[in-house]
Amino acid sequence: MSRNHPDHRSPGQILVTAAEIDDIVARLGREISVDYADRHPILISLLKGGVVFLADLIRHLTIPHHIEFMRVSSYESTRSKGAVRIISDLDTSIDGRDILLVEDVIDTGMTLAYIVDMLRLRNPGSLEVCALLRKRVTPRRAGIPIRYLGHEIPDTFVVGYGLDHDENYRNLPFIAALDPGLGR
Ligand code: IMP
Ligand code: MG
Repeated sequence: MSRNHPDHRSPGQILVTAAEIDDIVARLGREISVDYADRHPILISLLKGGVVFLADLIRHLTIPHHIEFMRVSSYESTRSKGAVRIISDLDTSIDGRDILLVEDVIDTGMTLAYIVDMLRLRNPGSLEVCALLRKRVTPRRAGIPIRYLGHEIPDTFVVGYGLDHDENYRNLPFIAALDPGLGR
């Protein structure tokens, strides 16, 4: 697959290249495989943005695991709406299970905090977070423990590798900043 195909043109500066993403995801997969060696975790991905990351991540896992999906919404275009809405919940019990929440990008941390609180009420055996990206401002806004972190990026709106702007750009094999003229 050509990385120069017109549909792969970047809408702004590339912040994480495809090769860098490969290395990051492989590292996270190794770390998770070691830590969960004698367990059988459920990886929960947040649709839709997290799906590309999850698909690549599980191919680096060498341990038995299940995957599940939730769909939540907190964003409209490039701004957080300030409220998290569950659009599609899990259809399986997590009681006593080892849960790894797989998130694409953490910005304000609001979405994650809400989901973590909600899932804790369902009595998982353990609950950890794996995030591909975290914006550098996140810790000041919300102190969410992230057990596995891929990469820190500046406080800017990014697209690619599953992340969208109004549903576009999810196909880009890299992470790019969205040029201000394109929707901020
Ligand atoms: P938070 O609640 O502000 O941390 O936002 C978390 C969710 O908003 C992520 O799961 C993404 O779906 C979305 N989001 C946050 N920042 C970006 C971005 O820069 N690009 C695309 N989606 C984003
Ligand atoms: Mg999104």
